[in-house]
Amino acid sequence: MKRTTAGTRRVLTAAAVAALTLGLGACGGDPTAAPAEGPHVAFLVPSTSLRSQTYDVPNFTVALQDRCPTCVVDVRTAEDQATQNAQGQEAVRDGAAAVVLVAIDGSQAGDLVTSADAADVPVVAYDRLVKDVPLDYYVSFDGNAVGTLGATALLDSIGSDTAGGAVVMLQGDPADNNAGLFAAGAHSVLDGKVEIADERYVTGWSAAQAEVEMTQALAALGGRRLLGVYTAYDGLAAGALQALTKAGYSGVPITGQDAETAALQRILSGTQTMTVFKDLPAQARATATLVADVLEGRTPDTTGTTDNGSGAVPTVLLQPQAVGKAEVSSKVLAEGYTTVDALCAGAASTVCAQAGVAG
Ligand code: BGC
Repeated sequence: MKRTTAGTRRVLTAAAVAALTLGLGACGGDPTAAPAEGPHVAFLVPSTSLRSQTYDVPNFTVALQDRCPTCVVDVRTAEDQATQNAQGQEAVRDGAAAVVLVAIDGSQAGDLVTSADAADVPVVAYDRLVKDVPLDYYVSFDGNAVGTLGATALLDSIGSDTAGGAVVMLQGDPADNNAGLFAAGAHSVLDGKVEIADERYVTGWSAAQAEVEMTQALAALGGRRLLGVYTAYDGLAAGALQALTKAGYSGVPITGQDAETAALQRILSGTQTMTVFKDLPAQARATATLVADVLEGRTPDTTGTTDNGSGAVPTVLLQPQAVGKAEVSSKVLAEGYTTVDALCAGAASTVCAQAGVAG
């Protein structure tokens, strides 16, 4: 692991100088002067990620500024890895104290991590691991468990009558390290238990592409019954359901991941079997605590390490949970992840009423 203290110390010294200057200025007579600007933390996220804007960025920012009120979070969104690399390198040149990175294409993000490393700026891989480069920290969910939870729920929903049938698997973006982890977990449950007619990785985690892939996968059934569909993400489930509906299917067990509002509504109405719920605010808070510790020169608490091919990366790993119809209320709403108002807005109010979910 690379050293992080040198870069951190440099930033804190600058912040301390700024605070001192402000203090002197205030004595000069302006007690209302704005507090000095502290360290900048670059948060680099994919522009296509719904969760980034809804959960990751706001929760991280609030939690970091709770610990470090003068810290500034510079959020940058990008659609491709080359742009994200340029954004990260610019942030490092501009003096960022840390980089929090949700890589778009983990296999192409090495230049950014290496540049930060050369400048002693710590990099936290947020949710998605970057391999074969000197990363400082990794904060994510147990990716294998994400896959096993979805696949186990799928098998439960299919039941014992599997004769003459097969399932389809829609995995995530092949450029995202998580896609492989989720897939491995799902296979560890499904392999040998049920026939897999077709398996596809869906570029960009795109719902529209999932519809295309699902339509093609149906052709691969070759006369077998479709027992169920494993998908690695709620957006993929949405796309797959479009394809299934157009092809005349209904009531097919189908899984997802991320507890998106639309997916929770589908679970309540019965068109989606379950989702894998990840407490994203908890992940954001854990990352903020880690970054604040690093900025203060402390060694953050971690739950273990992850071998990313370059070394043992200190890691905080959280546990995902399965959410079916019952758990929408008992877990997702009860934990305040979303509200009844948000879940049951507009047309969804009927679904909520029928499912007994009320404000
Ligand atoms: C994240 C998921 C998310 C997916 C698509 C994955 O890397 O772990 O939470 O659903 O990307 O954005």
